[in-house]
Amino acid sequence: MQSRTIYLIGPMGAGKSTIGRMLSRELNLPFLDTDQEVEERCGADIPWIFDMEGEAGFRQRETSVLEILQGEPPQIIATGGGIVMKEENRRLMVSGGFVVFLQTSVATQMLRTAKDKRRPLLQRPDRKQVLTDLYKIREPLYRQTADLVVCTDRGSPRQVIREIVEAVQGG
Ligand code: S3P
Repeated sequence: MQSRTIYLIGPMGAGKSTIGRMLSRELNLPFLDTDQEVEERCGADIPWIFDMEGEAGFRQRETSVLEILQGEPPQIIATGGGIVMKEENRRLMVSGGFVVFLQTSVATQMLRTAKDKRRPLLQRPDRKQVLTDLYKIREPLYRQTADLVVCTDRGSPRQVIREIVEAVQGG
């Protein structure tokens, strides 16, 4: 029986939502995506929030969602790729559960986000440079926040799920 919330962190295109949904079925726990939760609570989509409030406004909304989720029964939470940029967000996740960094190369991110129209940070011609720069800044933060690092570049989602389940259940 899984008694702690599991937070999935990692860059855009790491597979946080896909893995999160599968993990929620596997462990029979509710699934929540902080991007979706921010959008539902705000009544607007992420591109609109970035336009109107800037990235700082969006990060603040992520913090509010993490605060609300503290103390709720265990669940699987997929987070936005930049959630680790705020110290408070890192602290909330570390104190609130088990944190898994889904590690993915920029090459795989490029493939998985090729047709993306919804992520404001990627709506530029130099997508590869953006992803590379973000990864340099964020990778140490993902690592320092995580209880477990799992690579999602190779292997099937099933294998990723198995690694996470073994780690959280002490197998
Ligand atoms: C962002 C990642 C997105 C979303 C927003 C900003 C980022 O989430 O939160 O577009 O800063 O990396 P995903 O990682 O789920 O794509």
